[in-house]
Amino acid sequence: MTPPDYEYLRKLLKDHSGLDLSADKQYLIESRLLPLSRKAGLSGISELVQKMKGGSTAIIAQVVEAMTTNETFFFRDKVPFDHFRDSIMPEILKARASRKSLRIWCAAGSTGQEPYSLAMCLKEMGAALAGWRVEILATDLSQEVIEKSKAGIYSQFEVQRGLPIQMLVKYFKQNGELWQINADVRAMIQHRPLNLLHDFSQLGVFDVIFCRNVLIYFDQETKIKIFDRLAKVVEPDGFLVLGAAETVVGLTDAFRPYPERRGLYRPNDARAAQAKAPAVAMVAPKVAAMAGHLTDG
Ligand SMILES: C[S@@+](CC[C@H](N)C(=O)[O-])C[C@H]1O[C@@H](n2cnc3c(N)ncnc32)[C@H](O)[C@@H]1O
Repeated sequence: MTPPDYEYLRKLLKDHSGLDLSADKQYLIESRLLPLSRKAGLSGISELVQKMKGGSTAIIAQVVEAMTTNETFFFRDKVPFDHFRDSIMPEILKARASRKSLRIWCAAGSTGQEPYSLAMCLKEMGAALAGWRVEILATDLSQEVIEKSKAGIYSQFEVQRGLPIQMLVKYFKQNGELWQINADVRAMIQHRPLNLLHDFSQLGVFDVIFCRNVLIYFDQETKIKIFDRLAKVVEPDGFLVLGAAETVVGLTDAFRPYPERRGLYRPNDARAAQAKAPAVAMVAPKVAAMAGHLTDG
């Protein structure tokens, strides 16, 4: 790959996905894009770049997807899910007792382990959520990971990463070497492709946003813009959960850390008073179905 090819790819990735590559990541590009160029029958990265410059949107999308890091696993880092069960949900159950509705957004849900971990947490709460409307929206830039998430099918290796054995037995069915999460848990999640760089105000307002291990790939300016836009789609008394290496501190006053709960944030009061996008139900019939699903397991 020539230096101009590298600069072209760096800029394209920054513009299309927010990925902020330093000047010395040629090896990363090569390890991800050489297999793609071979698959496309091209001689190498320079020819791939030529195709992209020629305006091939399909190739551009494939390159952007190939450069995403989709690493995830069930109950990743554990602590955020403890916060969800022990801090977030008790507050939500009280605050929304009359409304009985809850909207959760997994803003970079990858192959589904994160949204399904949340769905299983909710299932474990059983009767406490009987009669509630619960929506979990899982979005990601990559169509490929969304398809895997929708299918909810995981290898033995994947289910051995982070998932307690009791939950595997309770919520999955084995099919040969693979495990599929049960249909009632799958039905709790709605999937949509979504690039965090683009407008997401049309999603409505959420009680809880999990946006973990994606902002680490972006530069400060992009993180700040996304935090400000996330603050507009979280309820004034809602929650933002970030990854272990991510924080709002020093970047924005749109959110403040929740005391003694690492990775957990709330919108700032002053920001909370700002106009919010109207809450919208995403797919009404499915939502109604989900309320039923929550009570059957
Ligand atoms: C490392 S995974 C994190 C998955 C999960 N949140 C977790 O913490 O386990 C990062 C995900 O962010 C997605 N992603 C990268 N850039 C994105 C963007 N601009 N908009 C939305 N998703 C993006 C990737 O496709 C990938 O699936």
